[in-house]
Amino acid sequence: MPENNLPDALRDQIDRSRVALALATASGDMPLVRVNAGFSSLTGYAPSDALDRNCRFLQGPETPADQVRAMSRFLRDDAADDGCFPVLNYTLDGRRFLNLVFMTKLRDGDGRLRFVLASQFDTSASDARTALAENDAALGRNMQDLRRAAGQFGLIMSDSTALIARSISTLARISFRDE
Ligand SMILES: Cc1cc2nc3c(=O)[nH]c(=O)nc-3n(C[C@H](O)[C@H](O)[C@H](O)COP(=O)(O)O)c2cc1C
Repeated sequence: MPENNLPDALRDQIDRSRVALALATASGDMPLVRVNAGFSSLTGYAPSDALDRNCRFLQGPETPADQVRAMSRFLRDDAADDGCFPVLNYTLDGRRFLNLVFMTKLRDGDGRLRFVLASQFDTSASDARTALAENDAALGRNMQDLRRAAGQFGLIMSDSTALIARSISTLARISFRDE
């Protein structure tokens, strides 16, 4: 499978999902190869603005360096399969929001990293707790479908159910720290 050749079934699952999803290829500077409507409505970036770019374009002048470092470390750590990262981001029109970014790695049969799939969630809304619970339920279901679709192409994705289930406590920690 060529590096950027995205299996149709995987692309369709990403497009169908109502949670924000972004997929990057592991080659080079990890450019995005697919973003869905949820990603565009959350960030304001249409696919034509986002594709072929590293997703760090969502960061801005006030994004704390340690938040970026945590993601960078995760992506470089071959032993890590999934993670959940709060990061201060900016929409296309300049609105700041605290993004809770879930990431999971897709590997080939030899264990080589091929893609990284991410889901973004805006924790700034007043009803974030309820919205996150709903988002997680959809994300959990979608991840099962995505794992199945990826598996058909020999791509292995770890089961992130446990991590997704912990996102409410991650949100609680962020809110607490910000008070
Ligand atoms: C698929 C994918 C989605 C990502 N989504 C976001 C995001 O929504 N917001 C963000 O600030 N960083 C996101 N990142 C992280 C950045 O792209 C980048 O990896 C991070 O800034 C650390 O690398 P750097 O130190 O080279 O910038 C994402 C990364 C990947 C691979």
